This record gives sequence, C-alpha cells and structure tokens, in this order.
Amino acid sequence: MNEQQRKETSQINPVKQTNEQIDPETNLQRLKNMESDELIGKYFQTTYQPPNLKKAKKRLKKDVDIHYDFSIPEEMKGIGKGKKFLIRTYGCQMNEHDTEIMAGLLTDMGYQPADDTSDADVILLNTCAIRENAENKVFGEIGHLKPLKTENPDLIIGVCGCMSQEESVVNRILQKHPFVDIIFGTHNIHRLPSLLQEAMFSKAMVVEVWSKEGDIIENLPKVRKGNIKAWVNIMYGCDKFCTYCIVPYTRGKERSRLPEDIIQEVRQLAAQGYQEITLLGQNVNAYGKDFDFEYGLGDLLDEIRKIDIPRVRFTTSHPRDFDDRLIEVLAQGGNLLDHIHLPVQSGSSEVLRVMARRYTREDYLELVRKIRAAMPNVTLTTDIIVGFPNETDEQFEETLSLVEEVGFEAAYTFIYSPREGTPAARWEDNISMEVKKERLQRLNQLVNEQAKQAMLKYEGQVVNVLVEGESKKDPDVLSGYTERNKLVNFKAPKSLIGKIVQVKITKAKTWSLDGEYVEQPSEVY
Ligand code: 5AD
Ligand code: SF4
Repeated sequence: MNEQQRKETSQINPVKQTNEQIDPETNLQRLKNMESDELIGKYFQTTYQPPNLKKAKKRLKKDVDIHYDFSIPEEMKGIGKGKKFLIRTYGCQMNEHDTEIMAGLLTDMGYQPADDTSDADVILLNTCAIRENAENKVFGEIGHLKPLKTENPDLIIGVCGCMSQEESVVNRILQKHPFVDIIFGTHNIHRLPSLLQEAMFSKAMVVEVWSKEGDIIENLPKVRKGNIKAWVNIMYGCDKFCTYCIVPYTRGKERSRLPEDIIQEVRQLAAQGYQEITLLGQNVNAYGKDFDFEYGLGDLLDEIRKIDIPRVRFTTSHPRDFDDRLIEVLAQGGNLLDHIHLPVQSGSSEVLRVMARRYTREDYLELVRKIRAAMPNVTLTTDIIVGFPNETDEQFEETLSLVEEVGFEAAYTFIYSPREGTPAARWEDNISMEVKKERLQRLNQLVNEQAKQAMLKYEGQVVNVLVEGESKKDPDVLSGYTERNKLVNFKAPKSLIGKIVQVKITKAKTWSLDGEYVEQPSEVY
C-alpha cells in the first residue's frame, strides 16, 4: 500500500441486515423453541452472517483500508437527547478504550451517562472472551438485566466486544436471552449509531458481527475516563495464534495505525494536559510489520519521546518481537518509563513450544539480560498460565524457577481455560483442576513474596508519583503511581491531583506503598 492509497478514504460497506417486525412476546416464545440455524434463517435476512471462527483465522494479503471520513449519521445526531447510557466493561485495556469510543459516539448522539442501570435508556455490555469465567460473568449480568427490560420495553440492551465475535455466544444469546436488542462485534463499533437506530425501530434482535479482519477507522469520537491518563491505540488484532488464545479470532488480523495519526493524537493529548499515555495493542511489538516501509515500535517511541508528555507506557509486549532497536530507544529514558510488562506464559521451553509462543526459556532469559543491560533499573512484570494441557510437575517447577531468576515484581497469573475454536481446547488434558489450583497458589505465593521484596527497597526513598485522585479506601488520602507502576498512598492537598509530585516512602506493603508528600523536590530514586 502506498502513501496515497493509505490516506485514501473509502466508503465503509457493512453487511446490511434488517429485521422483520415481530411482536416481542410471540418472538420470544418462537425463539425459545428453535435451533440456532433455523433461527438465523427465519429471523434475519439472508445477508446476516454469524461470526465464524474459521473465517476469522484467515489472514488475507489484502491491504487494510483506513477510513478518515467517519461521521454520525445526520438523523441520529439528536436521538439521545434527554436519554442516558451505561456501558459495563469487562476485560483488558483495549476494551476499556473501546468503551471510551462508544461513550464518544453516544455522547455525540445526545446521550448523557447514567449512574446506574435503573436510569439508563441504553445499556451496553462490552465483553471479554479470554477465559471462561469472564464469559460466565457476562451471562450472569445479561440475566440480571432481564427484569429491567420487562419493566421498560423501550430500554435498549446491547452486547458487544470479544464475546460477540464467537458464534456459540451469539447463538446462546439468540436462544436464551432474546430480550437483548443488539449484538455487535469488535469490528463494528463505529456502526453503533446505525445499529441503535435499527434496534429502536425494529422489534427483533439486530445482529452485526463481521468475521473479516476489520479496517482502521480514524477520527472516532471519544469520551476519555479522566483527564490525567489516556489510552492510545497503535495497532489492532493479533497474528500470533498462541494455541490457547481466542484473541486472534475475536480481534482479527494485525493492522497498525499510521505513525502520523498516532503522533497527532499524542500531541493533542499533551496539549490538553494529559500526564501519561499508554500505547495499546494486543502485541505492540508487531507494530509496523504490516507497513510496506521499515518502521517499528522503536521508531514510533523515538518520535513520541520527543513530545512534551511526561509519561509514556506501552502494553502488551510479545517477547518474540521485542527487538534491539526498541531496547536502544527505551534505554534513552526521559518520558519512556522503566517498566516493561513482558508476558512469559511459562518457564518451560516444551510448554512454550506447544503454546506456539515461538521462543524458548533461554530466548526469554537472553532478552531479559539485554533489557537489563540497557535499563539497569527496569521493573519487569508478566503474565503466566498454569495448568496448560498436560503440563508436568517438572515443567511447572521451571516456571517457578524462571519467576525467581527474572525477579518479576508482579504477575497476572491464570489457570488455563479452554476456549472453543482454539487448538489447545481440542487436546486431552491429564492434569486435574485440583493440581492446577495448587500450582496457581504456589505461584502466587512466590509472586507475592517477590512483590513485597521489591516494595521494601523503596522504604526511605523519594519517588515521583502521578497523583490520580483520592484513595479508594480513604478520601483523606491521595493515591497515584510511580514511574515503575507502584501504587502510592499519601496525605496531601487535593489540588495536587493530576500533578507529578515527590513522595517519601515510609512503609512498604505487598501491593502498595505508604508515604509522605515532599514539598521541596529533590533527586529521586
Ligand atoms: N486461559 C488462561 N489464560 C489465558 N490468557 C490468554 N488466553 C488464556 C486462556 N485460554 C492469558 C495470557 C495472556 C493474558 C492476557 O491472558 O496470560 O497474556
Ligand atoms: Fe493471545 Fe498470543 Fe496474541 Fe497475546 S500474542 S493476544 S496471548 S495470541
């Protein structure tokens, strides 16, 4: 794709799907008695395509189109006047940020945020599919919303996010929760205004989930949560296909935003006074691989570090694509912080091989060595899965020893959860849930111990804290994060919220630090 083509705007061409008008009660009764195929044929026009995990696996050579011409349809602009919306977000930062975009779209349609489901006219559940318990929570919540819909038939209930990209989920909602008004996928967020319009004027469920990779839609409105820290998408999708992971299917192929679009967004955020940005992507180290010019995350960060914004983070990294150029740029410091979240998943080369992570234990340790050589004060955190199918005791012990060897200061730890449609979900597994739980407990004990040790080093030190607001536990206490992402609680005037201040650490806990505000700034640790 050349520069001209890249900048070209093209018409977004959705799979159009309208619904016949059906009495909701009759609809509900009929839906309950139907099989899903029959259901789809009967209640949705033939253009309706259920999400398809096999199709979602295809990676086409076709270029991704970038659209710069987004606008809310004229007829939808005032439709939310006097009405309220509520979005429940589950899962990762990508979903948090998608919620900000949906809030932006709804606000531009005239809607106001609601405090609670009971005073909302539109309720959206932005869902996560990464593990089974995430999905169960959402189904529980859908069930809780049913009485609200019975009380107020004009209420619009929508399900979006990663779960709606799964065929089994869509079928389950169609069959068991027919009071849901809209289901839309991760590639269809920009279509929210039109889908809402359809749902308002049609009595049957509006379903729009594209299995194709999805384009890049620039210039979508956003209502950001707070004015101190901001998320910035740098890429979408994932092509890694780790054998346990549903994300490449639900989020589509890797596609990078153009550097100039990202830089412009970061400049705007800096001008608006934001103190911290986090660059987001499922695998940020693959940034730029889809360009026809040489440009990667290191190059992007090299430009962003020159922008006057105090703190820049990025997540999530994949060790395989973490290159020397990136390390060289990170080593220059400045607004690029000394904290890297580097998911390892397992300490066993054999488990990593069956996970299709494409690196060995030794490769990971070598990468850590290089990072530490360039950034001696770096804090490393990680993600780990225990109980992957047939993981032996010895392989689990290798994970424990790697955690110690690297000295992770925090880790998100999970028991493996089979995800329908992924290769690992089809494998036999001879490890009992009891053993998996035991392993998780042992791992967590080790991680907690290391977290505590890392915190103790801060006692007596002065750190820079970006003050985010009142502490959740005590409104008289302020809280914020250090450059290395440690939570700090301290007493100081509320006028400091949104500022970076110095705090002397007086007490270390496992997951937070207590400190005293330093009014006379000095050199910090
Ligand atoms: N089961 C358990 N954990 C998973 N993750 C991804 N897929 C699964 C799964 N099927 C974890 C990985 C990833 C994090 C976001 O979630 O550790 O890094
Ligand atoms: Fe999932 Fe692996 Fe992609 Fe991360 S890199 S989103 S774990 S497939």
